[in-house]
Amino acid sequence: MSKKLVVGNIGMMFGMAHVEGALAYDDAEIALICDCNEETLRKAGEKYNIPAEKQCTDYHDIINNKDINVVSVAIPDQQHKKVCSDLLRAGKHVLCEKPLALTREDIEEIVKVSDESGAKFMVGQICRFTPSFIKAKEIIDSGLIGELYFVESEYAHDYMKIVENADGSAHWRADPKRHGVIGGGCHAVDLLRWLAGDPTEVFAYGTHLMLPTVDYDDATIALMKFSDRCMGKVFVSTGCKRDYTMRTVIYGTKGTIICDNTSPTMQLFVADENGVAPEKPEIIELEVNNHNAVKEFEVFADAILNGKPIPTDAREGAKTVEVCLAIVESAEKGEKVYPNYNF
Ligand SMILES: NC(=O)c1ccc[n+]([C@@H]2O[C@H](COP(=O)([O-])OP(=O)(O)OC[C@H]3O[C@@H](n4cnc5c(N)ncnc54)[C@H](O)[C@@H]3O)[C@@H](O)[C@H]2O)c1
Repeated sequence: MSKKLVVGNIGMMFGMAHVEGALAYDDAEIALICDCNEETLRKAGEKYNIPAEKQCTDYHDIINNKDINVVSVAIPDQQHKKVCSDLLRAGKHVLCEKPLALTREDIEEIVKVSDESGAKFMVGQICRFTPSFIKAKEIIDSGLIGELYFVESEYAHDYMKIVENADGSAHWRADPKRHGVIGGGCHAVDLLRWLAGDPTEVFAYGTHLMLPTVDYDDATIALMKFSDRCMGKVFVSTGCKRDYTMRTVIYGTKGTIICDNTSPTMQLFVADENGVAPEKPEIIELEVNNHNAVKEFEVFADAILNGKPIPTDAREGAKTVEVCLAIVESAEKGEKVYPNYNF
């Protein structure tokens, strides 16, 4: 193996984006790809020209491969804790898909194992690598729109076709523990946490009209308090009849940003010295790249090779899941819930 990063990739559906991330990185090479479904594995091998001897159906082959130092995990959320913990204990650096895990117990366990392992761990909160959201963050940090007082984001994604298996059996996305707020809404929650900090309290409502085969609410709205001066809102719909969107609006004392991960433009309003906003926004053009796994891998590689910080380490991923759990609990109980960031 001639490259510094020798990669194993587990899960060959969305995980193919992680294969592309590793292939695009100069100092990385893929040693093994893994999927327990042989047909899926074979197709991925064919697509990326990865020969049979570099394919496996059992992730323990990746653990036992001494050359592999980095592993990407893109398998059902319910398995993240077990597989990531096994990999970390074997000393592998791990890039795990969002959400970190689905329960308080599991997120605590991953944080603990990650702390003990000494290996690097990153959760793939892909919105932090999405061009429109990076631009929004830059504008906020520059002070151009002043102090934030309201931030809202939504995760609207029709799951109708992805909550049932072809044979009619229950899909892992239909598991009540894999509530849409945690599995998908974690994108919007993580984005708002990145832009506005950690919410101290949440209050949520949910409804269930759209997905008859799941046992959780398929639409949820959560109001959040970030500070005494900044409020937030997250809307999650996993049965919506529209195209996928994460429409996001960021209100500051001097201006407003309207953006989306699926739009080639964003709108920016900046008030003049008299506090008057323009009638029309400035339109900023952007690349649409809502699954920027190439940048995500680059950032993780930079952390491993050059000691750069990891934007979404285990603790950061855990905080996002904790807010999602608080939203689900609030909608169920009809009470305010206070996220507990003590990990
Ligand atoms: N960042 C994003 O925008 C985004 C988008 C889609 C999915 N995801 C996340 O990626 C992960 C995978 O989602 P998906 O859509 O690819 O799911 P999927 O069900 O379509 O595919 C999962 C693959 O993993 C394989 N697999 C399951 N258990 C395995 C194991 N123990 N060892 C090896 N292979 C195993 C399955 O055979 C399947 O091919 C999930 O955590 C999901 O939440 C993230």
